[in-house]
Amino acid sequence: MSTQEPLSPVADQVLVRYDAVRSYTEQLAAPLSPEDQTVQSMPDTSPTKWHRAHVTWFFETFVLAEQEADFVPFQGKYWFLFNSYYEAVGPRYSRPMRGVISRPGSHDVGVYRRHVDDRIRELIGSLDEGSLQKVLPILELGFHHEQQHQELLLMDIKHVLSLNPLQPVYAGAPAEPGTLQELGWVEYAGGLVEIGHDGGGFSFDNELPRHQHWLSPYRLADRLVSNGEWLEFIADGGYRRPEFWLSDGWAQVQAEQWQAPLYWRESDGVWHEHTLHGTVPLDPSLPVCHVSHYEADAFATWAGKRLPTEAEWEHAALLAEATGGTDANLADTRSWHPRAAGTSGPGPRQLFGDCWEWTASAYLPYPGFRPAEGAIGEYNGKFMSSQMVLRGGCALTPPGHTRASYRNFFPPGARWPLTGVRLADGGDPR
Ligand SMILES: [Fe+2]
Repeated sequence: MSTQEPLSPVADQVLVRYDAVRSYTEQLAAPLSPEDQTVQSMPDTSPTKWHRAHVTWFFETFVLAEQEADFVPFQGKYWFLFNSYYEAVGPRYSRPMRGVISRPGSHDVGVYRRHVDDRIRELIGSLDEGSLQKVLPILELGFHHEQQHQELLLMDIKHVLSLNPLQPVYAGAPAEPGTLQELGWVEYAGGLVEIGHDGGGFSFDNELPRHQHWLSPYRLADRLVSNGEWLEFIADGGYRRPEFWLSDGWAQVQAEQWQAPLYWRESDGVWHEHTLHGTVPLDPSLPVCHVSHYEADAFATWAGKRLPTEAEWEHAALLAEATGGTDANLADTRSWHPRAAGTSGPGPRQLFGDCWEWTASAYLPYPGFRPAEGAIGEYNGKFMSSQMVLRGGCALTPPGHTRASYRNFFPPGARWPLTGVRLADGGDPR
């Protein structure tokens, strides 16, 4: 079938989705100059233009190279430059050195993107229904992969801009100061519950298999911990008293001289916070963000509470989804920052959006976990060591990219992701 003939409804649908995901990445990069897009501020972050190229490489490698009979890469060396971590695909350029790559520039990355987009459109238009059905799962993975990088692109540029004394603004303006309500608790009876993706719609392999899990009765805070509450923790010597801290956390506090969340700065006795809106006075009603797992855990210990397990969080989120109580502050609000919790309801607020919530759970395979076949099996499974699970999504997460079973993960010392804290109580902490 030539591309001149009308597309099948399935092909049409997938191309609409493809264009939507791909163009959103470019919208996010649009406020950034070529110079902004080139900087790598630390080994954990990547330049904006690298994100734009790497997600393109993903489609080129896992769709075009597999499906085009006479496949030739857009540019042979791009395979080396924009492979992130796939050993099965071949060697790759050093991750901490991504910021020294001045070519291709951000304009040329745009040329690469459009070239691959054209070939993907051509391919989808040319496949018969049976072949298209076979390609759909990897295209779907490519969409979710690009959405993950859309969120990372924003987290990374926030770190880049935080190092600039000119206090640059990415976009928008801060929200009006909110009013903070007393923290309440939501009770869960627990029992034998089911955890993991139920098979309806997309999931990553790490959300499978769905399995039974025992939960003792527990409570979850009905909102995230606030900046105001974090100020109390600081005032009570939170960063100076080792009794609150895990050993590795206390070592990092001392080694890196942590005295407050990553983006807080005290100036003339007034706390300020770096945001994507620039540097603004700290609003005590907003959720605290950009804290490590170590800080989250220390705060919980100081408060006489604990962090929720990922199973406790997922069970609560499933109940909240079932009752429709999920008013999420995701990237479509264009707030680019967590907002103050709204008025109390019967369930917990802010489960989805605002801040990724650290859990007490190590990132491990579920019982019976099997990584996907081939190179794509490297996507999640090989990172199941020395990382903690986070749940829920954040204000930078694209809509459609959250679900109750979604397992994000970062090392416990990471502070540049948009992370926050929800307290738990009762039950069995492990
Ligand atoms: Fe990636």
